[in-house]
Amino acid sequence: MISLINTWKNLRKKGVMGINQRNADYILKYNNRRNYPYVDDKILTKMRAIEAGISVPEMYGIIRTEHDISKFDEIIKDHRDFVIKPAQGSGGDGIIVIADRYEKDRFKTVSGKLVLHSELEYQLSNIITGLYSLGGMRDNAIVEYRVKPDPIFKSISYEGVPDIRIIVLLGYPIMAMLRLPTRQSNGKANLHQGAIGVGVDLATGITLNGSWFNEQISRHPDTDNIVSNIQLPLWPKFIELATRCYELVDLGYIGVDLVLDKDKGPLILELNARPGLNIQIANDVGLHQRASIVEQHIAELKKANKTETVQQRIKFSMKHFSVLGGR
Ligand SMILES: Nc1ncnc2c1ncn2[C@@H]1O[C@H](COP(=O)(O)OP(=O)(O)O)[C@@H](O)[C@H]1O
Ligand SMILES: [Mg+2]
Repeated sequence: MISLINTWKNLRKKGVMGINQRNADYILKYNNRRNYPYVDDKILTKMRAIEAGISVPEMYGIIRTEHDISKFDEIIKDHRDFVIKPAQGSGGDGIIVIADRYEKDRFKTVSGKLVLHSELEYQLSNIITGLYSLGGMRDNAIVEYRVKPDPIFKSISYEGVPDIRIIVLLGYPIMAMLRLPTRQSNGKANLHQGAIGVGVDLATGITLNGSWFNEQISRHPDTDNIVSNIQLPLWPKFIELATRCYELVDLGYIGVDLVLDKDKGPLILELNARPGLNIQIANDVGLHQRASIVEQHIAELKKANKTETVQQRIKFSMKHFSVLGGR
């Protein structure tokens, strides 16, 4: 607890954004409630992305009712591996990542746990009754392609798929973090599940130091490998995809989650209209400080009656938010 307070105290000096400020000055101000469904429902996000030519993990099927559960076998019949997730879930809750199957009714999760067909049916039923959805409303279960992580992550990750979170303010990327699953997080890259957050230099895509449960760390707790100074492949592509999400959902303050599939390349996993604040610990810099720079820039553009293209916005962010000096 003491170290948590110290961590946030140190960050305050660096223009940290607190939860009340995030809600009032960013989410309420820049996110039009009308557009929330496009990010809160992963099915709608996928449909929008596909229309815009942005790649996402392929959806194998949707289970909407108890009756639909009988279609599950048909949905997975051509797949040894797949993921089940609540369309309106968050924080990694309710997601099962199946890595392989034996016979008809036995499956293995990505962390090696055996799961029976009946358990998957039970999970589908829990999802549709709203166990994992915002406000406990009825939900839909998505069955989708399992992302296979790029081998670059082998040395620093532990099972599962690392993801890249990029915060985009009014179309300008302002901060990035690589999230690495741990033994504890069950193949998921959510910090609340126990994954590690590693800061990423916005200009280069080179990793910085990490954080785990609010503590700053430099090594992965399971593999003991150093997490910093790794060049993420295809970085300009990741930044471009995240930046384009501003136009995709018309929300001014979002967290974009992306993954790197070893065969399909960069994919958008999901968008968040209330992204967490721990990205500031991983990067050891405050969001408010960076957001203010963008807001000031936009105010100046407005005065001059100008707007910027995706590429101009990326250039601005890379110039102002680089910590490695554009190596
Ligand atoms: N299709 C997938 N393949 C492999 N892993 C996945 C897949 N979908 C989600 N995951 C894992 O679960 C985590 C959370 O998934 P996400 O779709 O972002 O849902 P949530 O809203 O709960 O965060 C991801 O960061 C990733 O580690
Ligand atoms: Mg997520």
